Amino acid sequence: MAIQAWFPTLIYSATLQRRSWRRFNAELLKECYQLRDVDTAGRRWSKANYPGGYTSYGSLDKLHQFSSTFVELERKIAGHVRAFVRRLEMDLQGRKLRMTDCWLNFMPRQTAHGLHLHPLSVISGTYYVRTPTGCPGLKFEDPRLSRFMAAPPKRADCRSENRRYVSYRAEAGKVLLFESWLRHEVTLNPVSGERVSISFNYDWV
Ligand code: NI
Repeated sequence: MAIQAWFPTLIYSATLQRRSWRRFNAELLKECYQLRDVDTAGRRWSKANYPGGYTSYGSLDKLHQFSSTFVELERKIAGHVRAFVRRLEMDLQGRKLRMTDCWLNFMPRQTAHGLHLHPLSVISGTYYVRTPTGCPGLKFEDPRLSRFMAAPPKRADCRSENRRYVSYRAEAGKVLLFESWLRHEVTLNPVSGERVSISFNYDWV
């Protein structure tokens, strides 16, 4: 008798760089605060679309073309994306994956980011800049959930790969990558510290 698992959903997590990530991270964080301070349009956009928090998604979403610190971040992330694509065994057919969007997210206490996916992209991900103890991670949903129809729920003690959701802890200095069609959310931040992350998309060009 053989039972095998097929059609896996891969999620990549790694430390951005082995050495001196703290120094690089501190530089990034400083710039994140500066950007928020000058981004009046983004703060206005966030008021309507990101209650309680701030995101530059609607205003400054090309940060990798904007400042040398973010250019450096893009360079560091690129190696991780290459490794992920290799593992996914994607055949890019001579074309490339290119970072098209890169934006900031500030989530103070009581801010949440509902379930969503990143349409029109191939790989998406997040780099964590500031993660106060107890802040929420990134929660992914089983992509087959809408097809389960009459399927019974899973046992509470089921193996982790059989769960309907999986959460990755948010940890400063870590990068998470996933395929852009995979739905995910950030649950309510229950702690007073502000959670700061940088999100990005890669397209096939
Ligand atoms: Ni997202």
